[in-house]
Amino acid sequence: MPRFARHLEQQDGPYNPFPGLEALERRLGHALPHRIGSNEGLDMPHRALRARFGDALADLARTYGDAEAWSLRHRLAERLGLSPEQLLVDAGADSLMALALRALCDEGSPVITSAGTYPTWSYFVRGAGCREIEVAYADSTQTLAPDLSALAGAAHREGARVVYLANPDNPTGYLHADADVLALRDALPAGCTLVLDEAYHDFREDAWSPEANPAWAGIIRLRTFSKAHGLAGLRVGYAIATPETLAMLMKVRIHYAVSSLALAAADTVLAHPDETRGHVAAVIARREALADWLREQGAAVLPSTTNFVCLRLPRAAQAAAIHQALLDEGTLIHRPAHPALGHVLRISALEDALQPGRLATLAQGLAREG
Ligand SMILES: Cc1ncc(COP(=O)(O)O)c(C=O)c1O
Repeated sequence: MPRFARHLEQQDGPYNPFPGLEALERRLGHALPHRIGSNEGLDMPHRALRARFGDALADLARTYGDAEAWSLRHRLAERLGLSPEQLLVDAGADSLMALALRALCDEGSPVITSAGTYPTWSYFVRGAGCREIEVAYADSTQTLAPDLSALAGAAHREGARVVYLANPDNPTGYLHADADVLALRDALPAGCTLVLDEAYHDFREDAWSPEANPAWAGIIRLRTFSKAHGLAGLRVGYAIATPETLAMLMKVRIHYAVSSLALAAADTVLAHPDETRGHVAAVIARREALADWLREQGAAVLPSTTNFVCLRLPRAAQAAAIHQALLDEGTLIHRPAHPALGHVLRISALEDALQPGRLATLAQGLAREG
């Protein structure tokens, strides 16, 4: 079975016609200070932008971002113990999912997903004309987890091109061990790629230890600056994969999808890891405090390796009633729209969630029906 979309496997290109000025400078080995050939609005004065956001933003705004994200990829490579060739930067993990599907799938390609996991994935799978096959979560007394053997079984049954796994998972918060993820990869049919969404990777206990973080063959790992790094509005994420796999993704990548501002912001945040590390520690402390409080209210709180807490209720109707009552008073928590997880509620571990009384309606809802 081919691993990539048929038209990409069958031709050499396509090649990005605009790798960008920074890439050209790197190739030439000297600067190009006189940029009168690329048609951006380089002489726009930007008085209004400058007044509102300052000089740095006004200057960044005029130019396209570095299509190769050279600086950010090198900084990430150093942090992760990878080579820059094993990294691809794009406009968030969402954008990388769409890119992976574009590179991997033909119309009708079978794609396996856990029923109720991060729904943007399914949205893109359907938008790409793939055939989505869902498998149920493994439901045990203490946990609700993507079912790795069911994912592998469905991949064989359906001749899948792609299997999606969010690890840690959203909305359940469950983390599978790396060894189990690799065993899943090994259990997939030949030519089937595992898209491993690691949007919450930075909340893992081992996220900051010097790690091997290999670009595992047969797996495209997706990470984001939206969660632990707080840059959701700027849209930056990265994929870790083998250079051969990334070369296929590069064939269909929108080359200026990541703005110059987003690249500069991610670079800056990455250069100051102590701030992120402190933030992550605070989030984890809040998550555990929230989980403890919810357990005191009688909630069945699932173990989480993310920046949120997930509760499993006995009935979907009870979860719906609590969700609606909180919404009526102006508090938004998350209840998955997928019917398979209608009995689940997800709450972000923000300071606001811990304010006295903020979740009193939820506690009442648990007590009333519990
Ligand atoms: C599992 C998962 N993947 C991806 C994303 C989106 O990440 P990004 O903002 O980088 O597109 C989210 C955001 O909630 C998520 O929960």
